[in-house]
Amino acid sequence: MSVQIDINPNIREIPFGTRLLIGQAARKKGDVVSLSAGMPNLPMPPYITQRLLEGLESGYAPYTHYFGYPELREKLAQHLKVGYGIEADPEEELLITHGVQEGLYVAMRSLLLPGDEVLMPSPHYGEYYMNTIACGCEPVLLRLDEEDGFLPDLDRWEKAITPKSRAIVFSNPNNPLGVTWDQGVLEGIAELAQKHNLVVLVDEIYHDFTFSGPPVSIGTFPGMKERTLTFGGFSKAFMMMGMRIGYVVAPAEVLSVIKKLHYCTVLGPSYPGQLAALAALDCPEDQLTPLYEDFKERLEMMYSRVSALPGVTCVKPQGGFYMFPNFKRFGMNSMDLALKLIDEAGVSCLPGTEFGDYGEGYFRFATCAAPEKLVEGLDRLEKWVAEFPLG
Ligand SMILES: Cc1ncc(COP(=O)(O)O)c(C=O)c1O
Repeated sequence: MSVQIDINPNIREIPFGTRLLIGQAARKKGDVVSLSAGMPNLPMPPYITQRLLEGLESGYAPYTHYFGYPELREKLAQHLKVGYGIEADPEEELLITHGVQEGLYVAMRSLLLPGDEVLMPSPHYGEYYMNTIACGCEPVLLRLDEEDGFLPDLDRWEKAITPKSRAIVFSNPNNPLGVTWDQGVLEGIAELAQKHNLVVLVDEIYHDFTFSGPPVSIGTFPGMKERTLTFGGFSKAFMMMGMRIGYVVAPAEVLSVIKKLHYCTVLGPSYPGQLAALAALDCPEDQLTPLYEDFKERLEMMYSRVSALPGVTCVKPQGGFYMFPNFKRFGMNSMDLALKLIDEAGVSCLPGTEFGDYGEGYFRFATCAAPEKLVEGLDRLEKWVAEFPLG
């Protein structure tokens, strides 16, 4: 007897698959240099690894505090105060999550009602869109243009706001665009949020990779703490991707609700992850600063070579691991062109459409492969472009 199992259409409709196709094509091809994944090739700093190994020596692997060890939240609150200017009560305004990814999910599910509109500057990080669909909400893409250096056009954005608009979500520094919005730009967004009573969800996972000046957190602006949820994490800043530790800073009342869904979703954050996170917050500067400098150099090197390619234009990246070059002159849609790049050049990247329709005609390149691999990937890319029959 066949059984019809009904499935929640909101979850069924979550778009997912582009990056799987790219991965499959790369595996099929074999010898491929990956400029696609946002996963740094480096191990954790030795101080963190050492403390983690010591912490695991007993073999003990308990459940942890539901909301993250109090000691970790206290240290993190201190870290956020010094490094971000963010004041967060470790008991009531700070939650340790299973990466930023979990934080975004539980926060959006807790805040949004079906039918709400969620504004997102776009091209955007995929999870913002996916969560919006999962919540039965309407994503409203606020187009960012290369001609404007991917800076917001606030007048145009304001016209997209309706009585149903509830929240705006973005990353700063930006994945996939590589740009970092400064104090002035963020002040404009804060003003808009206050004027239209929007909740701001800001993903600052690349905070330590801000290369254009001191990083600025929108949640620290006057009148913004009450309406801002700040997401951050240890994955990128400490090369702790698989440790799965992130956090959410939110107003106490909002966080008290998010905590319930977090409990339902993960029970408590990972034990080894929190051991590593505790160590990370004590990690000597001389084991961290070189990491950030290394990524800055990688981005500069990649930008100088990619922006010099014939037929390609690119906004200069100022943070994070990424750049978003324009390949429209190549006359193909991004997905087909990305597959052709894998097949003909042995280089993989993500098609711009992975980040929404406004990414059509663009690629996202990441600087996370080992430096010698990056160089090899760029050599292959240059050769392929030189032989490409540009119209
Ligand atoms: C903008 C952005 N947010 C969140 C994440 C996921 O972070 P985490 O590893 O903390 O879940 C990523 C990972 O690439 C990202 O680029």
